[in-house]
Amino acid sequence: MAKLIGKNKIQCAVFISGRGSNLKSIYKYSKKKDSKINLQLVVSNNTNAPGLTFAKKKKIKTKVVKYKNKFKSEIQIINSLKINKIELICLAGFMKILSKKFIIKFKKKIINIHPSLLPKYKGLNTHERAIKNKEKYSGCTVHFVSQKLDSGKIILKRKVRLFKSDTSASLAKRVLKAENILYPLAIKKILTKI
Ligand code: GRF
Repeated sequence: MAKLIGKNKIQCAVFISGRGSNLKSIYKYSKKKDSKINLQLVVSNNTNAPGLTFAKKKKIKTKVVKYKNKFKSEIQIINSLKINKIELICLAGFMKILSKKFIIKFKKKIINIHPSLLPKYKGLNTHERAIKNKEKYSGCTVHFVSQKLDSGKIILKRKVRLFKSDTSASLAKRVLKAENILYPLAIKKILTKI
């Protein structure tokens, strides 16, 4: 990431599979005067992802890859990333696991948001598990992507209070709000000298 610090604007791609609320918050950040990124490309494995509609509305380039074959799909994605000179990949609800090869190729250039306070609750159903364990807090984490699922170096976390009355839906809603705040902050952090 050091190579990217101090550069004017970093060409950024966001990978999505669905709703795209984090995509929206990254887009909003990209439009700020002091933003460090240009949101150049949105990649999705799902033709019907609502996030794609948003991207098209904002005239961001989109690349849909149907993922019938992981290897071939990743080649298509890599080509698209090259054409668009992408230097930073933000995974935001992308439901496909990237291959080891892909992750090595873009080492330290892929980040992800996860709806728990990592290293707690890696994987799926984070909110259900946090509630079941009667946690006082849950939250979200932005981290670099490594070959081990949800285990790369942590960039930033944001805590969210967990109430006794919470259901996984109510907690998910509160955590998502925190995610939408956290993602741009994490991008800013890795692209700014501290
Ligand atoms: C978020 O909860 C994120 O943490 C998880 O998938 C969800 C994506 O939400 N990885 P959105 O599509 O950004 O609204």
